[in-house]
Amino acid sequence: MRILSGIQPSGQPHLGNYFGMMRPAVELQSRGDCYYFIADYHALTSLGSDSDVKARSLEVAVDFLACGLEPDKTVLFRQSAVPEVHELAWYLSNVAPMGLLERCHSYKDKVARGLSANHGLFAYPVLMTADILLYEADLVPVGKDQVQHLEVARDLAKKFNDTYGETFRIPELALREEAATLPGIDGQKMSKSYGNTIGLFAPENEFKKRVMAIKTDSSPVEAPKAVEGSVLLALARCVAPAGVVVEMEESMLRGGRGYGDYKKQLFGLLWESLTELRAKREALARDPGYVLKVLQEGEKRARETASTVLTKARKAVGIA
Ligand code: ADP
Ligand code: TRP
Repeated sequence: MRILSGIQPSGQPHLGNYFGMMRPAVELQSRGDCYYFIADYHALTSLGSDSDVKARSLEVAVDFLACGLEPDKTVLFRQSAVPEVHELAWYLSNVAPMGLLERCHSYKDKVARGLSANHGLFAYPVLMTADILLYEADLVPVGKDQVQHLEVARDLAKKFNDTYGETFRIPELALREEAATLPGIDGQKMSKSYGNTIGLFAPENEFKKRVMAIKTDSSPVEAPKAVEGSVLLALARCVAPAGVVVEMEESMLRGGRGYGDYKKQLFGLLWESLTELRAKREALARDPGYVLKVLQEGEKRARETASTVLTKARKAVGIA
């Protein structure tokens, strides 16, 4: 089974990205043949002209490897290393109904947030479809925000097959569990756009400061604390053994400990659990040659797969 997913190189990874996307992606390595790529072409739809996309992409590669991606099991590559994806996107554009693309929430949301209503943003789901079909993905694990794009990909694959004859595999969506949505320090979904993140690889003092800044109510030390919707507990659940979480929960319900105490405990749990990842990241950052080699190897393999599929697509549309 081929599993494929992409991540945009749009900022420093936070705990939400790790527990919601990177860790599940790493775990999937045992379930199939994984293709993970850094969606640098897609990132151009939202990054400014002064962003160093190449440097950001290399950082993401380091982050992903530090999180446990194993290059001998997984093909890790930059989307732009296989520019032929645009050729396939063009073929797909010819079977992509305007109405379908106009209904995409992500386009409408981004324009409402002030991004310019240009063709790149509009055609985003077509390029994403090309990513998926070019590498013959069976399973595409994504978060809830990408579900509609996956439906577009399935629609376009079927439409292409109906128009030009059986060419593409129809990809299945693997929706990551909603429970995995991690709250940020203000209680909303942890997201770069809300400025409420805890950086996965932030230095200790900054990491601690963010944990200590988690918003809580003003219950006095002796009072029982609310456990429903507690950000402290949600974060603790990601890393602490069940027994420790239950103990924390019971102690909050009893009262007698202040929030500051719980935050210090949480900081300890989180920081400790990420020790190995940080060490791995430091080692990788000292060896950029290795990271580049992993990418180049991945890019070679990605290109081989892409070239077979593209040949089929060219024949199907009648251009070759
Ligand atoms: P952000 O919201 O910070 O911009 P992205 O949209 O770049 O994050 O998300 C990258 C990946 O991380 C996506 O697969 C997304 O589903 C996942 N992700 C982001 N934030 C969270 C979160 N708070 N909880 C779980 N998963 C998340
Ligand atoms: N649009 C995805 C996101 O923002 C990234 C992405 C690009 C992707 N191409 C893909 C994800 C193909 C899965 C499959 O998260």
